[in-house]
Amino acid sequence: MDSKLENSHHNINVNIVIAMGFPLKGKVIFFATGNVNKFMEAKAVLSDYGIAVGMLRLKTLEIQSEDLEEIAKISVVETFRRLGLPVIVEDAGLFVEALNGFPGPYSSYVYKTIGNAGLLKLMENIANRKAIFYSVVAYLSEELDSPVCFKGEVKGEITTISKGACMGFGFDPIFKPEDSEKTFAEMSIQEKNQYSHRAKALRKFAEWYKSFQKQ
Ligand code: IMP
Repeated sequence: MDSKLENSHHNINVNIVIAMGFPLKGKVIFFATGNVNKFMEAKAVLSDYGIAVGMLRLKTLEIQSEDLEEIAKISVVETFRRLGLPVIVEDAGLFVEALNGFPGPYSSYVYKTIGNAGLLKLMENIANRKAIFYSVVAYLSEELDSPVCFKGEVKGEITTISKGACMGFGFDPIFKPEDSEKTFAEMSIQEKNQYSHRAKALRKFAEWYKSFQKQ
């Protein structure tokens, strides 16, 4: 279902895409993101916990900071202030050991500018391919005074060539988690969710959310 949400008080107009496949009864939370792949991953994780999630397709505020948690927190506070809906914002980054953690919090800019080909070029002749993806999920609703945050990580390596470019998004074709022969881009959403930083952070959130709802 596609519908428009008007909030005349704050003069905003946001496209809400409600994920199909759950009854619109009870509580729904929203994932504010412009990235439908991230939303599909989140929907798969949260549905295992019976948590209904809708996508708020909007560009969230992203402050410049070296701390993913600070970026996600400020973003979720601002999004909640605008919409007044129970909302998740997620921020991720790829940290490459041989590059002293680069691109880290600047991952999105690096992806947009030099892309996967540029990162592979930067790493030409570098034997240490170790890298970590971090994800921070921040959640805020009217029941809370301040946002809650959950972190997930996955260790892996940067491949030497891009693989599986037609699936996934971002750095997926050049990131292979430990204990896997496949890059993220060669995996289905379910397979990626067995390893991914985002799925781990979302599972922590889901555990917290379920016990919070029981209180
Ligand atoms: P964001 O700011 O959280 O959207 O992510 C920073 C950058 O990392 C973006 O360019 C994303 O495409 C990329 N990224 C985030 N998560 C993933 C992932 O799960 N796989 C591949 N790339 C990702």
